[in-house]
Amino acid sequence: MHNMKDLNLNNKKVIVRVDYNVPMKDGVVVDNNRIVSSLETINYLISENAKIILMSHMGKIKTEEDKANNTLLPVKSELERLLNKEVKFCGELKGETLEKEVNDLLPGEILLLENTRYMDYPEKLESGCDEELSKYWASLADAFILDAFGSCHRAHASTYGMAKYLPHAVGFLVEKEVKELDKIKNEKKTLILGGAKVSDKIGVIKNLLPTSEKVLIGGAMCATFLEAKGVDTGKTFVDMDYLLEARDLINTGKIILPIDVVTESGVKSLERINENESILDLGPETIDLYKQNINPDYMVLLNGTLGKYEEEKYEDATKEMFEFLKDNNFKVVVCGGDGASAAKKYNFTPYYLSTGGGASLEYLEGKELPALKIMED
Ligand code: 3PG
Repeated sequence: MHNMKDLNLNNKKVIVRVDYNVPMKDGVVVDNNRIVSSLETINYLISENAKIILMSHMGKIKTEEDKANNTLLPVKSELERLLNKEVKFCGELKGETLEKEVNDLLPGEILLLENTRYMDYPEKLESGCDEELSKYWASLADAFILDAFGSCHRAHASTYGMAKYLPHAVGFLVEKEVKELDKIKNEKKTLILGGAKVSDKIGVIKNLLPTSEKVLIGGAMCATFLEAKGVDTGKTFVDMDYLLEARDLINTGKIILPIDVVTESGVKSLERINENESILDLGPETIDLYKQNINPDYMVLLNGTLGKYEEEKYEDATKEMFEFLKDNNFKVVVCGGDGASAAKKYNFTPYYLSTGGGASLEYLEGKELPALKIMED
């Protein structure tokens, strides 16, 4: 992959694809981790006297109303606060106003463009990697920097399409993510996986199994594994397509599953889950079992949450696990959205926090990420 320092960016118009798809509430950024993580690249470009054009998506845009709900304006304010510097904003993604704003930029100035996915309605031009749009965006600048690690699994016009037409390199954030995730892939570890969808995690488990001593399964996805063992999990969603693969994984002897759970009616042993109940958290015996299965000599890789922690009555497993990891000073890497939000809620500072959600998982799964691939060309 090309490094930013290989390019002469002095006085050049540089498009930086960042991932500012950040959690927002009432028009205010509630978790700025992705913005903070992009500052190193931005500050480097300022010091190089580049004219910086930042592009990012936010949410998914399928209607006019989605546009109003997914503007990047709150990100502009947060970025200005963090940089202590003016950030210009352009609401247009095509046309004369945009071209003028770009051409008026002075060295060291920053222009943030509106959500690239505004170009997904009425036609899916950004997500569809429209050739004309990719060429047009490329025509605005002299170089392209990919620093949106969280979007590297998307072959969109702003992550992939435009890179074909400009000298390109990865930013410091992407460089760091790849380095850290490569280390994680190879290091001996305990995997703690939660969340709802087993389909997202099977590939990760398979790929990381050789370097994982134990895999602790929580969240609603544990239901598919329990069903594979013949446990009736009530109305918890079970992904029938993955029952056989779940059984094969259980047969490796590395998978640790719940022995008690919390449903709508409180703590239940597995035999007592009835057909109207669902698994919403792990029970106290399981929490103890999981703690005993974490080897202090290895790192812990955590993705997802052990229960529906957003609701107080189902937060115990997630909360206690973070407290345990903190009290024992374990080396913990947290990958992705929900695990990161929960870590924040329980004041847990991981050794490393990946900015990627789907992108980190696909990378750890061993899949090729298209936006990263094109950076090698
Ligand atoms: C993420 O939050 O995982 C990234 O920003 C990618 O978002 P997407 O799944 O909407 O492409």
